[in-house]
Amino acid sequence: MCGIIGYIGNKEVVPILINGLKRLEYRGYDSAGICVLSQNKLETVKKKGQITELENELIGRGINGTMGIAHTRWATHGDSSVVNAHPHLDCKNKIAIIHNGIIENYGALKKILEAGGHKIISDTDSEIVAHLIEKFYNGNLEEAVIKAIKYIEGTFGLVVICESEECIIAARRGSPLIIGIGDDEMFVTSDASAILEYTRKVIYIKDDEIVTLTKNSYDVKNLNGNLVNSEIQEIKWNLKEIEKAGFKHFMLKEIYEQPHSIENTLRGRIRDNKIKLSFDIDPKLINKIIITACGTSWHSALIGKYLIEKISGIETVVDYASEFRYRNPIIKDNDLLIAISQSGETADTLAALRVAKNCKTLGIVNVVGSSIAREVDFGIYLHAGPEIGVASTKAFTCQVTALILFSLFLRQELGLELDSKLINELSLISEKINSILDKADKIQEISTNFKDAKNFLYLGRGINFPVALEGALKLKEISYIHAEGYPAAEMKHGPIALIDENMFIVFIINRGEIFEKVISNMQEVRARGGNIITITDCPEDEMIKKLSNFIISVPQTQEELSPLINVIPLQLMSYFVADAKGLNVDKPRNLAKSVTVE
Ligand code: M6R
Repeated sequence: MCGIIGYIGNKEVVPILINGLKRLEYRGYDSAGICVLSQNKLETVKKKGQITELENELIGRGINGTMGIAHTRWATHGDSSVVNAHPHLDCKNKIAIIHNGIIENYGALKKILEAGGHKIISDTDSEIVAHLIEKFYNGNLEEAVIKAIKYIEGTFGLVVICESEECIIAARRGSPLIIGIGDDEMFVTSDASAILEYTRKVIYIKDDEIVTLTKNSYDVKNLNGNLVNSEIQEIKWNLKEIEKAGFKHFMLKEIYEQPHSIENTLRGRIRDNKIKLSFDIDPKLINKIIITACGTSWHSALIGKYLIEKISGIETVVDYASEFRYRNPIIKDNDLLIAISQSGETADTLAALRVAKNCKTLGIVNVVGSSIAREVDFGIYLHAGPEIGVASTKAFTCQVTALILFSLFLRQELGLELDSKLINELSLISEKINSILDKADKIQEISTNFKDAKNFLYLGRGINFPVALEGALKLKEISYIHAEGYPAAEMKHGPIALIDENMFIVFIINRGEIFEKVISNMQEVRARGGNIITITDCPEDEMIKKLSNFIISVPQTQEELSPLINVIPLQLMSYFVADAKGLNVDKPRNLAKSVTVE
Protein backbone atom coordinates (compact mmCIF):
# COMPACT_ATOMS: atom_id res chain seq x y z
CA MET A 1 0.00 0.00 0.00
CA CYS A 2 2.59 2.58 1.10
CA GLY A 3 6.25 2.48 0.10
CA ILE A 4 9.30 2.02 2.33
CA ILE A 5 13.03 2.46 1.69
CA GLY A 6 15.96 2.60 4.10
CA TYR A 7 19.72 2.77 3.50
CA ILE A 8 22.90 2.38 5.53
CA GLY A 9 26.34 2.46 3.90
CA ASN A 10 29.06 4.85 2.78
CA LYS A 11 27.22 6.83 0.12
CA GLU A 12 25.26 10.05 0.47
CA VAL A 13 21.84 8.80 1.55
CA VAL A 14 19.43 11.54 0.39
CA PRO A 15 19.67 10.88 -3.39
CA ILE A 16 19.34 7.11 -2.80
CA LEU A 17 16.18 7.58 -0.73
CA ILE A 18 14.61 10.10 -3.13
CA ASN A 19 15.42 7.87 -6.08
CA GLY A 20 13.85 4.91 -4.25
CA LEU A 21 10.70 6.91 -3.46
CA LYS A 22 10.38 7.85 -7.13
CA ARG A 23 10.57 4.17 -8.04
CA LEU A 24 7.69 3.52 -5.63
CA GLU A 25 5.51 6.28 -7.11
CA TYR A 26 3.55 3.91 -9.35
CA ARG A 27 1.85 2.46 -6.24
CA GLY A 28 -0.08 5.67 -5.62
CA TYR A 29 0.60 7.91 -2.64
CA ASP A 30 -0.50 11.22 -1.16
CA SER A 31 2.52 12.39 0.83
CA ALA A 32 6.14 11.45 1.46
CA GLY A 33 8.88 12.00 3.99
CA ILE A 34 12.50 11.30 4.80
CA CYS A 35 14.58 11.06 7.98
CA VAL A 36 18.39 11.11 7.90
CA LEU A 37 21.03 10.86 10.60
CA SER A 38 22.81 14.11 9.73
CA GLN A 39 25.62 15.43 11.96
CA ASN A 40 24.52 13.07 14.76
CA LYS A 41 20.93 14.39 14.73
CA LEU A 42 17.79 12.99 13.13
CA GLU A 43 16.62 15.44 10.47
CA THR A 44 13.11 14.87 9.18
CA VAL A 45 11.38 16.49 6.19
CA LYS A 46 7.84 15.65 5.05
CA LYS A 47 5.70 16.98 2.25
CA LYS A 48 2.21 16.46 0.87
CA GLY A 49 1.97 15.57 -2.83
CA GLN A 50 4.64 14.61 -5.37
CA ILE A 51 8.11 13.29 -4.52
CA THR A 52 9.62 16.17 -6.53
CA GLU A 53 8.07 18.55 -3.99
CA LEU A 54 9.84 16.70 -1.18
CA GLU A 55 13.02 16.78 -3.24
CA ASN A 56 12.72 20.56 -3.71
CA GLU A 57 12.02 21.03 -0.02
CA LEU A 58 15.34 19.31 0.76
CA ILE A 59 17.40 21.70 -1.40
CA GLY A 60 19.62 23.96 0.69
CA ARG A 61 18.69 22.30 3.98
CA GLY A 62 22.19 20.90 4.44
CA ILE A 63 20.87 17.45 5.29
CA ASN A 64 23.45 14.81 4.57
CA GLY A 65 24.50 11.49 6.00
CA THR A 66 24.92 7.83 5.17
CA MET A 67 21.93 6.36 7.03
CA GLY A 68 18.27 7.19 6.59
CA ILE A 69 14.71 6.05 5.95
CA ALA A 70 11.94 7.32 3.67
CA HIS A 71 8.28 6.59 3.00
CA THR A 72 5.49 7.30 0.53
CA ARG A 73 2.13 7.27 2.23
CA TRP A 74 -1.25 6.17 0.99
CA ALA A 75 -3.51 7.23 3.83
CA THR A 76 -5.34 4.60 5.89
CA HIS A 77 -5.83 6.34 9.26
CA GLY A 78 -5.90 10.12 9.18
CA ASP A 79 -6.09 12.46 6.19
CA SER A 80 -3.27 13.17 3.83
CA SER A 81 -1.25 15.94 5.52
CA VAL A 82 2.31 16.76 6.58
CA VAL A 83 1.71 15.80 10.19
CA ASN A 84 0.27 12.43 9.19
CA ALA A 85 3.07 11.69 6.69
CA HIS A 86 5.88 9.35 7.76
CA PRO A 87 8.49 9.18 9.28
CA HIS A 88 6.96 9.58 12.74
CA LEU A 89 9.07 10.52 15.72
CA ASP A 90 9.05 9.91 19.45
CA CYS A 91 8.61 12.81 21.92
CA LYS A 92 12.32 13.66 21.96
CA ASN A 93 12.87 13.38 18.18
CA LYS A 94 15.47 10.69 18.79
CA ILE A 95 13.64 7.69 17.31
CA ALA A 96 12.07 7.67 13.83
CA ILE A 97 9.83 5.03 12.30
CA ILE A 98 8.15 4.31 8.99
CA HIS A 99 5.29 1.83 8.90
CA ASN A 100 3.10 0.02 6.39
CA GLY A 101 0.04 -1.85 7.61
CA ILE A 102 -2.67 -1.22 10.18
CA ILE A 103 -2.24 -1.12 13.97
CA GLU A 104 -5.63 -2.45 15.08
CA ASN A 105 -5.26 -1.70 18.78
CA TYR A 106 -3.86 1.78 18.28
CA GLY A 107 -6.77 3.37 20.19
CA ALA A 108 -5.99 1.36 23.33
CA LEU A 109 -2.21 1.89 22.97
CA LYS A 110 -2.72 5.62 22.44
CA LYS A 111 -4.63 5.92 25.73
CA ILE A 112 -1.87 4.07 27.62
CA LEU A 113 0.91 6.15 26.05
CA GLU A 114 -0.87 9.45 26.59
CA ALA A 115 -1.52 8.52 30.21
CA GLY A 116 2.25 7.93 30.46
CA GLY A 117 2.91 11.49 29.22
CA HIS A 118 3.62 10.83 25.52
CA LYS A 119 2.51 13.60 23.13
CA ILE A 120 0.90 12.09 20.04
CA ILE A 121 0.50 14.71 17.36
CA SER A 122 -0.86 12.93 14.28
CA ASP A 123 -4.13 11.11 13.55
CA THR A 124 -2.27 8.02 12.37
CA ASP A 125 -2.09 4.59 13.91
CA SER A 126 1.62 4.48 12.97
CA GLU A 127 2.89 7.23 15.25
CA ILE A 128 1.98 5.08 18.26
CA VAL A 129 4.83 2.73 17.33
CA ALA A 130 7.50 5.46 17.69
CA HIS A 131 6.24 6.23 21.20
CA LEU A 132 5.99 2.58 22.14
CA ILE A 133 9.63 2.06 21.14
CA GLU A 134 10.59 5.21 23.07
CA LYS A 135 8.86 3.74 26.16
CA PHE A 136 11.01 0.59 25.95
CA TYR A 137 14.28 2.17 24.76
CA ASN A 138 17.12 1.62 27.14
CA GLY A 139 20.20 2.00 24.96
CA ASN A 140 19.44 -0.95 22.65
CA LEU A 141 17.13 -0.22 19.72
CA GLU A 142 16.71 -3.85 18.66
CA GLU A 143 15.52 -4.87 22.12
CA ALA A 144 13.13 -1.92 22.32
CA VAL A 145 11.58 -2.81 18.93
CA ILE A 146 11.14 -6.47 19.95
CA LYS A 147 9.39 -5.38 23.15
CA ALA A 148 7.20 -2.86 21.32
CA ILE A 149 5.95 -5.19 18.62
CA LYS A 150 4.83 -7.71 21.21
CA TYR A 151 2.16 -5.15 22.13
CA ILE A 152 1.01 -4.50 18.58
CA GLU A 153 -2.11 -6.15 17.13
CA GLY A 154 -2.46 -5.87 13.37
CA THR A 155 -0.03 -5.73 10.50
CA PHE A 156 3.28 -4.00 10.02
CA GLY A 157 6.27 -3.57 7.79
CA LEU A 158 8.28 -1.43 10.18
CA VAL A 159 11.64 0.32 9.82
CA VAL A 160 13.25 2.19 12.72
CA ILE A 161 16.35 4.31 13.29
CA CYS A 162 17.55 6.23 16.30
CA GLU A 163 19.96 9.06 16.89
CA SER A 164 22.42 7.18 19.10
CA GLU A 165 22.95 3.94 17.09
CA GLU A 166 24.39 3.34 13.61
CA CYS A 167 21.93 0.68 12.54
CA ILE A 168 18.51 0.17 10.97
CA ILE A 169 15.97 -2.15 12.59
CA ALA A 170 13.20 -3.65 10.46
CA ALA A 171 10.36 -5.98 11.42
CA ARG A 172 7.46 -7.51 9.59
CA ARG A 173 4.04 -9.03 10.23
CA GLY A 174 1.72 -9.28 7.22
CA SER A 175 3.25 -6.42 5.23
CA PRO A 176 6.17 -7.08 2.84
CA LEU A 177 9.77 -6.17 3.65
CA ILE A 178 12.86 -6.99 1.66
CA ILE A 179 16.52 -6.58 2.62
CA GLY A 180 18.92 -5.62 -0.18
CA ILE A 181 22.55 -6.65 0.25
CA GLY A 182 25.22 -4.50 -1.40
CA ASP A 183 28.99 -4.03 -0.99
CA ASP A 184 29.40 -2.26 2.33
CA GLU A 185 25.82 -1.06 2.10
CA MET A 186 22.42 -2.45 3.04
CA PHE A 187 18.90 -1.52 1.95
CA VAL A 188 15.46 -2.26 3.29
CA THR A 189 12.33 -1.77 1.23
CA SER A 190 8.73 -2.82 0.86
CA ASP A 191 9.15 -3.26 -2.88
CA ALA A 192 12.22 -4.49 -4.75
CA SER A 193 11.75 -1.88 -7.50
CA ALA A 194 13.15 0.77 -5.09
CA ILE A 195 16.58 -0.90 -4.80
CA LEU A 196 16.97 -2.80 -8.04
CA GLU A 197 19.49 -0.39 -9.54
CA TYR A 198 21.83 -0.94 -6.54
CA THR A 199 21.57 -4.66 -5.88
CA ARG A 200 19.80 -7.82 -6.98
CA LYS A 201 20.75 -9.81 -3.88
CA VAL A 202 17.80 -9.82 -1.49
CA ILE A 203 16.32 -11.54 1.56
CA TYR A 204 12.55 -11.67 1.91
CA ILE A 205 11.77 -11.08 5.59
CA LYS A 206 9.14 -13.45 7.03
CA ASP A 207 6.38 -12.66 9.51
CA ASP A 208 7.58 -12.05 13.07
CA GLU A 209 11.18 -11.67 12.01
CA ILE A 210 13.28 -8.72 13.05
CA VAL A 211 16.41 -7.58 11.21
CA THR A 212 19.32 -5.43 12.35
CA LEU A 213 21.28 -3.82 9.52
CA THR A 214 24.66 -2.18 9.71
CA LYS A 215 26.53 -1.14 6.59
CA ASN A 216 28.25 -4.53 6.33
CA SER A 217 26.06 -6.94 8.30
CA TYR A 218 22.51 -8.18 8.62
CA ASP A 219 21.12 -10.22 11.52
CA VAL A 220 17.72 -11.83 11.08
CA LYS A 221 16.14 -12.94 14.37
CA ASN A 222 12.83 -14.23 15.66
CA LEU A 223 10.87 -12.44 18.35
CA ASN A 224 12.74 -14.36 21.05
CA GLY A 225 15.93 -12.70 19.84
CA ASN A 226 17.37 -15.94 18.34
CA LEU A 227 19.14 -15.79 14.99
CA VAL A 228 17.29 -17.47 12.12
CA ASN A 229 18.67 -18.71 8.80
CA SER A 230 17.59 -16.70 5.84
CA GLU A 231 18.20 -17.40 2.21
CA ILE A 232 19.74 -14.80 -0.11
CA GLN A 233 17.89 -14.74 -3.40
CA GLU A 234 18.71 -13.17 -6.74
CA ILE A 235 16.07 -10.96 -8.37
CA LYS A 236 15.66 -11.92 -12.00
CA TRP A 237 12.73 -9.67 -12.97
CA ASN A 238 13.08 -6.32 -14.68
CA LEU A 239 11.74 -3.11 -13.15
CA LYS A 240 8.39 -3.02 -14.95
CA GLU A 241 7.67 -6.61 -13.98
CA ILE A 242 8.43 -5.86 -10.36
CA GLU A 243 6.07 -2.88 -10.13
CA LYS A 244 3.28 -5.19 -11.13
CA ALA A 245 4.64 -7.96 -8.87
CA GLY A 246 5.14 -10.10 -11.96
CA PHE A 247 1.59 -9.60 -13.26
CA LYS A 248 1.16 -8.38 -16.82
CA HIS A 249 -1.27 -5.63 -15.80
CA PHE A 250 -2.31 -3.80 -12.64
CA MET A 251 -5.86 -5.04 -13.18
CA LEU A 252 -4.73 -8.67 -12.94
CA LYS A 253 -2.59 -7.87 -9.89
CA GLU A 254 -5.58 -6.20 -8.25
CA ILE A 255 -7.84 -9.17 -9.04
CA TYR A 256 -5.30 -11.39 -7.26
CA GLU A 257 -5.05 -8.98 -4.33
CA GLN A 258 -8.72 -9.46 -3.44
CA PRO A 259 -8.36 -12.19 -0.81
CA HIS A 260 -5.93 -9.91 1.03
CA SER A 261 -7.82 -6.65 0.51
CA ILE A 262 -11.06 -8.23 1.77
CA GLU A 263 -9.17 -9.31 4.89
CA ASN A 264 -8.05 -5.71 5.31
CA THR A 265 -11.65 -4.49 5.07
CA LEU A 266 -12.66 -7.01 7.73
CA ARG A 267 -9.61 -6.52 9.96
CA GLY A 268 -10.49 -5.57 13.51
CA ARG A 269 -14.18 -5.17 12.65
CA ILE A 270 -15.42 -8.56 13.87
CA ARG A 271 -14.54 -9.64 17.38
CA ASP A 272 -16.23 -12.37 19.44
CA ASN A 273 -19.06 -12.53 16.87
CA LYS A 274 -19.71 -8.80 17.33
CA ILE A 275 -19.39 -6.14 14.65
CA LYS A 276 -17.16 -3.23 15.67
CA LEU A 277 -17.61 -0.11 13.58
CA SER A 278 -16.29 3.13 14.94
CA PHE A 279 -19.49 5.18 14.92
CA ASP A 280 -22.69 5.57 16.76
CA ILE A 281 -25.65 5.02 14.44
CA ASP A 282 -28.92 4.00 16.07
CA PRO A 283 -30.86 2.00 13.43
CA LYS A 284 -34.05 2.28 15.48
CA LEU A 285 -34.11 5.96 14.49
CA ILE A 286 -33.60 5.36 10.76
CA ASN A 287 -36.66 5.82 8.53
CA LYS A 288 -35.05 4.53 5.33
CA ILE A 289 -31.61 4.19 3.78
CA ILE A 290 -30.73 5.80 0.45
CA ILE A 291 -27.60 4.57 -1.31
CA THR A 292 -26.08 6.60 -4.10
CA ALA A 293 -23.05 5.87 -6.30
CA CYS A 294 -21.83 5.53 -9.90
CA GLY A 295 -20.56 2.69 -12.08
CA THR A 296 -19.18 -0.32 -10.27
CA SER A 297 -19.88 1.36 -6.91
CA TRP A 298 -23.54 1.59 -7.96
CA HIS A 299 -23.52 -2.18 -8.53
CA SER A 300 -22.27 -2.75 -5.01
CA ALA A 301 -24.99 -0.34 -3.84
CA LEU A 302 -27.61 -2.63 -5.43
CA ILE A 303 -26.11 -5.58 -3.56
CA GLY A 304 -26.16 -3.37 -0.44
CA LYS A 305 -29.92 -2.87 -0.79
CA TYR A 306 -30.43 -6.60 -0.90
CA LEU A 307 -28.14 -7.17 2.10
CA ILE A 308 -29.46 -4.37 4.32
CA GLU A 309 -33.10 -5.27 3.71
CA LYS A 310 -32.52 -9.01 4.21
CA ILE A 311 -30.25 -8.77 7.24
CA SER A 312 -31.63 -5.73 9.08
CA GLY A 313 -35.13 -5.28 7.64
CA ILE A 314 -34.57 -1.54 7.03
CA GLU A 315 -36.05 -0.20 3.79
CA THR A 316 -33.29 0.75 1.35
CA VAL A 317 -33.44 2.51 -2.00
CA VAL A 318 -30.61 2.91 -4.53
CA ASP A 319 -30.08 5.73 -6.97
CA TYR A 320 -27.50 6.63 -9.59
CA ALA A 321 -25.80 9.70 -8.12
CA SER A 322 -26.14 11.51 -11.46
CA GLU A 323 -29.94 11.05 -11.39
CA PHE A 324 -30.45 11.58 -7.67
CA ARG A 325 -28.80 15.00 -7.64
CA TYR A 326 -31.16 16.42 -10.27
CA ARG A 327 -34.56 15.03 -9.38
CA ASN A 328 -35.44 16.72 -6.10
CA PRO A 329 -35.43 13.44 -4.16
CA ILE A 330 -37.57 13.03 -1.08
CA ILE A 331 -35.17 12.90 1.86
CA LYS A 332 -36.58 12.78 5.38
CA ASP A 333 -34.55 14.09 8.36
CA ASN A 334 -34.36 10.60 9.79
CA ASP A 335 -33.19 8.96 6.54
CA LEU A 336 -29.57 7.83 6.23
CA LEU A 337 -27.76 8.51 2.95
CA ILE A 338 -24.86 6.22 2.02
CA ALA A 339 -22.39 7.40 -0.64
CA ILE A 340 -20.19 4.64 -2.07
CA SER A 341 -17.05 5.55 -3.98
CA GLN A 342 -13.63 4.02 -4.47
CA SER A 343 -11.94 7.35 -5.17
CA GLY A 344 -14.13 9.49 -2.93
CA GLU A 345 -13.86 12.16 -5.65
CA THR A 346 -16.53 11.18 -8.21
CA ALA A 347 -18.24 14.48 -9.04
CA ASP A 348 -21.79 13.10 -9.29
CA THR A 349 -21.54 11.14 -6.03
CA LEU A 350 -20.12 14.14 -4.22
CA ALA A 351 -22.91 16.35 -5.58
CA ALA A 352 -25.55 13.76 -4.56
CA LEU A 353 -24.11 13.73 -1.06
CA ARG A 354 -24.40 17.50 -0.89
CA VAL A 355 -28.10 17.27 -1.87
CA ALA A 356 -28.75 15.33 1.35
CA LYS A 357 -28.35 18.34 3.63
CA ASN A 358 -31.06 17.42 6.10
CA CYS A 359 -30.13 13.84 6.96
CA LYS A 360 -27.10 11.98 8.32
CA THR A 361 -24.63 10.59 5.80
CA LEU A 362 -22.26 7.62 5.71
CA GLY A 363 -19.38 7.18 3.26
CA ILE A 364 -18.03 3.82 2.07
CA VAL A 365 -14.80 5.00 0.53
CA ASN A 366 -11.35 3.65 -0.29
CA VAL A 367 -9.24 6.80 -0.52
CA VAL A 368 -8.68 8.20 2.94
CA GLY A 369 -9.13 11.95 3.28
CA SER A 370 -10.88 12.22 -0.12
CA SER A 371 -13.68 14.78 -0.55
CA ILE A 372 -16.51 12.31 0.15
CA ALA A 373 -14.68 10.88 3.17
CA ARG A 374 -14.29 14.39 4.58
CA GLU A 375 -17.87 15.51 4.01
CA VAL A 376 -19.83 12.56 5.45
CA ASP A 377 -20.92 12.27 9.08
CA PHE A 378 -19.76 8.66 9.42
CA GLY A 379 -17.45 6.47 7.36
CA ILE A 380 -16.24 2.97 6.64
CA TYR A 381 -12.87 2.92 4.89
CA LEU A 382 -12.22 -0.06 2.64
CA HIS A 383 -8.44 -0.34 3.26
CA ALA A 384 -8.21 -2.01 -0.18
CA GLY A 385 -4.95 -0.26 -1.07
CA PRO A 386 -4.51 1.88 -4.18
CA GLU A 387 -6.51 0.72 -7.17
CA ILE A 388 -4.56 1.67 -10.29
CA GLY A 389 -6.34 -0.29 -13.05
CA VAL A 390 -9.19 1.80 -14.49
CA ALA A 391 -11.52 -1.20 -14.29
CA SER A 392 -12.49 -1.46 -10.65
CA THR A 393 -12.08 -4.93 -9.14
CA LYS A 394 -10.82 -5.06 -5.56
CA ALA A 395 -12.74 -1.91 -4.62
CA PHE A 396 -15.96 -3.70 -5.63
CA THR A 397 -15.41 -6.78 -3.47
CA CYS A 398 -14.27 -4.62 -0.55
CA GLN A 399 -17.37 -2.42 -0.92
CA VAL A 400 -19.58 -5.51 -0.80
CA THR A 401 -17.65 -6.70 2.26
CA ALA A 402 -18.15 -3.32 3.97
CA LEU A 403 -21.88 -3.49 3.16
CA ILE A 404 -22.11 -6.98 4.69
CA LEU A 405 -20.44 -5.62 7.84
CA PHE A 406 -22.75 -2.61 7.92
CA SER A 407 -25.89 -4.78 7.47
CA LEU A 408 -24.77 -7.02 10.32
CA PHE A 409 -23.98 -3.93 12.43
CA LEU A 410 -27.53 -2.60 11.88
CA ARG A 411 -29.01 -5.95 12.89
CA GLN A 412 -26.84 -6.12 15.99
CA GLU A 413 -27.76 -2.56 17.02
CA LEU A 414 -31.44 -3.42 16.56
CA GLY A 415 -30.88 -6.04 19.25
CA LEU A 416 -31.39 -8.97 16.87
CA GLU A 417 -29.28 -12.12 16.91
CA LEU A 418 -26.48 -12.34 14.32
CA ASP A 419 -26.16 -15.37 12.06
CA SER A 420 -22.94 -16.93 13.38
CA LYS A 421 -22.78 -19.23 10.33
CA LEU A 422 -22.65 -16.17 8.08
CA ILE A 423 -19.89 -14.60 10.19
CA ASN A 424 -17.92 -17.82 10.07
CA GLU A 425 -18.41 -18.09 6.33
CA LEU A 426 -17.08 -14.54 5.96
CA SER A 427 -13.84 -15.66 7.58
CA LEU A 428 -13.49 -18.36 4.88
CA ILE A 429 -14.25 -16.14 1.91
CA SER A 430 -10.64 -15.17 1.05
CA GLU A 431 -9.64 -18.83 0.95
CA LYS A 432 -12.56 -19.58 -1.38
CA ILE A 433 -11.60 -16.69 -3.68
CA ASN A 434 -8.06 -18.05 -3.75
CA SER A 435 -9.38 -21.40 -4.93
CA ILE A 436 -10.97 -19.66 -7.95
CA LEU A 437 -7.78 -17.70 -8.67
CA ASP A 438 -5.91 -21.01 -8.64
CA LYS A 439 -8.05 -22.05 -11.63
CA ALA A 440 -7.36 -18.89 -13.65
CA ASP A 441 -5.66 -20.95 -16.41
CA LYS A 442 -8.90 -22.77 -17.11
CA ILE A 443 -10.83 -19.48 -17.21
CA GLN A 444 -8.20 -18.07 -19.59
CA GLU A 445 -8.57 -21.09 -21.88
CA ILE A 446 -12.35 -20.66 -21.98
CA SER A 447 -12.05 -16.88 -22.51
CA THR A 448 -9.99 -17.20 -25.70
CA ASN A 449 -13.19 -18.48 -27.38
CA PHE A 450 -14.82 -15.06 -26.96
CA LYS A 451 -12.29 -12.68 -28.38
CA ASP A 452 -14.20 -12.23 -31.63
CA ALA A 453 -17.63 -12.10 -29.97
CA LYS A 454 -19.72 -9.01 -30.67
CA ASN A 455 -22.49 -9.33 -28.09
CA PHE A 456 -22.84 -10.72 -24.59
CA LEU A 457 -25.74 -11.02 -22.19
CA TYR A 458 -25.10 -11.53 -18.45
CA LEU A 459 -28.00 -12.98 -16.51
CA GLY A 460 -28.40 -13.45 -12.77
CA ARG A 461 -31.17 -13.25 -10.20
CA GLY A 462 -31.62 -11.78 -6.74
CA ILE A 463 -28.37 -10.69 -5.15
CA ASN A 464 -26.53 -11.89 -8.26
CA PHE A 465 -28.39 -9.63 -10.69
CA PRO A 466 -26.01 -6.73 -9.80
CA VAL A 467 -23.13 -9.20 -10.30
CA ALA A 468 -24.43 -9.75 -13.86
CA LEU A 469 -24.41 -5.97 -14.36
CA GLU A 470 -20.85 -5.79 -13.03
CA GLY A 471 -19.68 -8.65 -15.29
CA ALA A 472 -21.16 -6.87 -18.32
CA LEU A 473 -19.59 -3.53 -17.33
CA LYS A 474 -16.14 -5.13 -16.95
CA LEU A 475 -16.36 -6.70 -20.41
CA LYS A 476 -17.56 -3.46 -22.05
CA GLU A 477 -14.92 -1.30 -20.38
CA ILE A 478 -11.80 -3.20 -21.30
CA SER A 479 -12.77 -5.47 -24.24
CA TYR A 480 -15.06 -3.03 -26.09
CA ILE A 481 -17.54 -5.88 -26.61
CA HIS A 482 -21.16 -4.90 -26.27
CA ALA A 483 -22.59 -6.51 -23.13
CA GLU A 484 -25.81 -6.13 -21.15
CA GLY A 485 -26.72 -7.34 -17.69
CA TYR A 486 -30.29 -8.42 -16.95
CA PRO A 487 -32.26 -10.20 -14.26
CA ALA A 488 -32.55 -13.69 -15.80
CA ALA A 489 -36.35 -13.67 -15.66
CA GLU A 490 -36.56 -10.35 -17.54
CA MET A 491 -35.05 -11.94 -20.63
CA LYS A 492 -38.40 -13.11 -21.95
CA HIS A 493 -39.69 -9.52 -21.84
CA GLY A 494 -37.45 -8.38 -24.67
CA PRO A 495 -33.78 -9.39 -24.79
CA ILE A 496 -34.70 -12.94 -25.84
CA ALA A 497 -35.30 -11.49 -29.32
CA LEU A 498 -31.52 -10.95 -29.62
CA ILE A 499 -30.61 -14.58 -29.05
CA ASP A 500 -29.13 -16.56 -31.91
CA GLU A 501 -25.98 -18.63 -32.46
CA ASN A 502 -23.81 -15.47 -32.40
CA MET A 503 -24.91 -14.43 -28.92
CA PHE A 504 -22.92 -15.39 -25.80
CA ILE A 505 -24.90 -15.58 -22.58
CA VAL A 506 -23.30 -15.78 -19.14
CA PHE A 507 -25.57 -17.32 -16.50
CA ILE A 508 -24.83 -16.96 -12.79
CA ILE A 509 -26.64 -19.80 -11.08
CA ASN A 510 -26.26 -21.04 -7.51
CA ARG A 511 -28.13 -23.72 -5.65
CA GLY A 512 -31.10 -22.39 -3.75
CA GLU A 513 -34.74 -21.44 -4.15
CA ILE A 514 -34.58 -20.06 -7.70
CA PHE A 515 -32.23 -22.68 -9.14
CA GLU A 516 -34.96 -24.37 -11.22
CA LYS A 517 -36.24 -21.01 -12.49
CA VAL A 518 -32.80 -20.11 -13.83
CA ILE A 519 -32.52 -23.57 -15.42
CA SER A 520 -35.74 -22.76 -17.31
CA ASN A 521 -34.17 -19.48 -18.51
CA MET A 522 -31.13 -21.46 -19.69
CA GLN A 523 -33.41 -23.80 -21.63
CA GLU A 524 -35.07 -20.84 -23.34
CA VAL A 525 -31.66 -19.59 -24.48
CA ARG A 526 -30.46 -23.01 -25.61
CA ALA A 527 -33.61 -23.56 -27.67
CA ARG A 528 -32.71 -20.44 -29.66
CA GLY A 529 -29.12 -21.49 -30.34
CA GLY A 530 -27.39 -19.14 -27.83
CA ASN A 531 -23.95 -20.06 -26.42
CA ILE A 532 -24.06 -20.50 -22.66
CA ILE A 533 -21.22 -19.84 -20.20
CA THR A 534 -22.31 -20.93 -16.73
CA ILE A 535 -20.84 -19.70 -13.45
CA THR A 536 -22.11 -22.11 -10.84
CA ASP A 537 -21.55 -23.79 -7.49
CA CYS A 538 -23.19 -27.00 -8.78
CA PRO A 539 -21.25 -27.97 -11.91
CA GLU A 540 -22.24 -31.61 -11.42
CA ASP A 541 -25.94 -30.91 -12.09
CA GLU A 542 -27.06 -32.87 -15.17
CA MET A 543 -29.17 -30.01 -16.59
CA ILE A 544 -26.33 -27.54 -16.21
CA LYS A 545 -24.00 -29.94 -18.00
CA LYS A 546 -26.51 -30.45 -20.78
CA LEU A 547 -27.33 -26.80 -21.34
CA SER A 548 -23.89 -25.17 -20.98
CA ASN A 549 -21.22 -24.76 -23.64
CA PHE A 550 -18.72 -23.79 -20.95
CA ILE A 551 -18.89 -24.26 -17.17
CA ILE A 552 -16.83 -22.33 -14.62
CA SER A 553 -17.30 -23.85 -11.19
CA VAL A 554 -17.07 -21.76 -8.02
CA PRO A 555 -17.09 -22.83 -4.35
CA GLN A 556 -20.33 -22.85 -2.40
CA THR A 557 -21.05 -20.13 0.10
CA GLN A 558 -24.03 -18.47 1.77
CA GLU A 559 -26.26 -16.52 -0.58
CA GLU A 560 -25.37 -13.16 1.04
CA LEU A 561 -21.69 -13.72 0.22
CA SER A 562 -22.16 -15.22 -3.24
CA PRO A 563 -21.42 -11.92 -5.12
CA LEU A 564 -17.90 -12.00 -3.66
CA ILE A 565 -17.36 -15.41 -5.21
CA ASN A 566 -19.29 -15.13 -8.49
CA VAL A 567 -17.72 -11.85 -9.59
CA ILE A 568 -14.17 -13.29 -9.59
CA PRO A 569 -14.49 -15.45 -12.76
CA LEU A 570 -16.30 -12.58 -14.47
CA GLN A 571 -13.41 -10.20 -13.71
CA LEU A 572 -10.91 -12.79 -14.93
CA MET A 573 -12.92 -13.52 -18.04
CA SER A 574 -13.12 -9.88 -19.09
CA TYR A 575 -9.41 -9.47 -18.36
CA PHE A 576 -8.41 -12.49 -20.45
CA VAL A 577 -10.68 -11.52 -23.36
CA ALA A 578 -9.25 -7.98 -23.44
CA ASP A 579 -5.69 -9.28 -23.16
CA ALA A 580 -6.28 -11.81 -25.95
CA LYS A 581 -7.46 -8.89 -28.10
CA GLY A 582 -4.20 -7.09 -27.30
CA LEU A 583 -5.97 -4.13 -25.66
CA ASN A 584 -4.58 -1.71 -23.08
CA VAL A 585 -6.27 -3.29 -20.09
CA ASP A 586 -5.14 -0.78 -17.46
CA LYS A 587 -6.03 2.30 -19.49
CA PRO A 588 -9.05 1.53 -21.66
CA ARG A 589 -9.97 4.10 -24.29
CA ASN A 590 -12.15 7.07 -23.31
CA LEU A 591 -12.14 6.20 -19.58
CA ALA A 592 -10.59 7.90 -16.55
CA LYS A 593 -9.94 6.26 -13.21
CA SER A 594 -11.76 8.96 -11.34
CA VAL A 595 -14.57 10.91 -12.99
CA THR A 596 -14.29 14.31 -11.37
CA VAL A 597 -16.38 16.13 -13.96
CA GLU A 598 -20.12 15.93 -14.62
O1 M6R B 1 -14.39 6.17 -7.58
P1 M6R B 1 -15.83 5.72 -7.73
O2 M6R B 1 -16.10 4.41 -7.10
O3 M6R B 1 -16.79 6.78 -7.29
O4 M6R B 1 -16.01 5.57 -9.30
C1 M6R B 1 -17.26 5.26 -9.84
C2 M6R B 1 -17.14 4.81 -11.29
O5 M6R B 1 -16.60 5.85 -12.07
C3 M6R B 1 -16.27 3.58 -11.43
O6 M6R B 1 -16.75 2.51 -10.65
C4 M6R B 1 -16.22 3.11 -12.91
O7 M6R B 1 -17.48 2.66 -13.30
C5 M6R B 1 -15.16 2.03 -13.07
N1 M6R B 1 -14.37 2.31 -14.21
C6 M6R B 1 -15.72 0.67 -13.18
O8 M6R B 1 -14.75 -0.30 -13.43
